[in-house]
Amino acid sequence: MINICLESKKRANFILKGVCNILNVADKREPIITISNLSKIYRVGEEKVIALENINLVINKGEFCCFLGTSGSGKSTLLNVLAGLEKPTRGNIRIKNVNIEKLNEKKLAAFRQDNIGFIFQAYNLVNYLNAVENVSLPLMFKGVSKKERTKKAVELLKAVGLPKHLRHKPTQMSGGQQQRVGIARAFVTNPDIVFADEPTGNLDSKTSMEVLDLMTGLAKTNNQTLIMVTHDVNIAKRADRIIYILDGRIEKIEERQSVGG
Ligand SMILES: Nc1ncnc2c1ncn2[C@@H]1O[C@H](COP(=O)(O)OP(=O)(O)OP(=O)(O)O)[C@@H](O)[C@H]1O
Ligand SMILES: [Mg+2]
Repeated sequence: MINICLESKKRANFILKGVCNILNVADKREPIITISNLSKIYRVGEEKVIALENINLVINKGEFCCFLGTSGSGKSTLLNVLAGLEKPTRGNIRIKNVNIEKLNEKKLAAFRQDNIGFIFQAYNLVNYLNAVENVSLPLMFKGVSKKERTKKAVELLKAVGLPKHLRHKPTQMSGGQQQRVGIARAFVTNPDIVFADEPTGNLDSKTSMEVLDLMTGLAKTNNQTLIMVTHDVNIAKRADRIIYILDGRIEKIEERQSVGG
């Protein structure tokens, strides 16, 4: 009898612990982006191209999430619409409780400056500016003083392993080094969300992993949300969550690690 009681008490404790764990994880999830009924249709002459069709998704603060899909599936379109680079045809995107599709151009630009960093596959650095000047650019747009923005840019370039390339121009650096400058530029304003579209697409596999480690390391340190597009399963496997995109729709979602928090 005593044995049975002890056994059921143990079992009750075990269940209680499980429930607490679930609640704890749930508590930590704080939505940062909420996407509702999102569609994007391009018109090319008479033709209609449905690039995104009825996307619904919540992305949490601090999460590293990957959009994975084949060429033409709509990954870049989704990233660009979320980052406010393109307007959706239908639907809502709420970022930090702001409906960004409703913002006018000026307000959207200010919102992006304050909250969003973007890393491009082709680096998109300004060729006539050196590394420090490239990384300083987003701070200049925000009106930060030259002294302060140079200090911050140097700090970031050191953090991405380029202390000896501060005065190098893009053409005087390797692809991997240029992408490190691109990463420093995306993180220099300390944005809550960093988007990256195939950031390792032009790099060899060893450099790709180094660049990936850098981005994820910076994002995790500051609890920033990292949203990355890739067609490479090995890269996607590093994410907390993989969102599979097929023909402009979410095909499935794979949770790999505890999300956010
Ligand atoms: N500006 C545009 N005008 C018309 N159609 C477009 C435009 N941009 C993208 N598309 C179309 O939308 C669809 C999705 O394109 P998208 O660039 O998002 O694909 P992707 O998944 O990023 O592909 P990739 O892996 O090749 O970069 C494609 O059919 C593409 O042709
Ligand atoms: Mg693309």
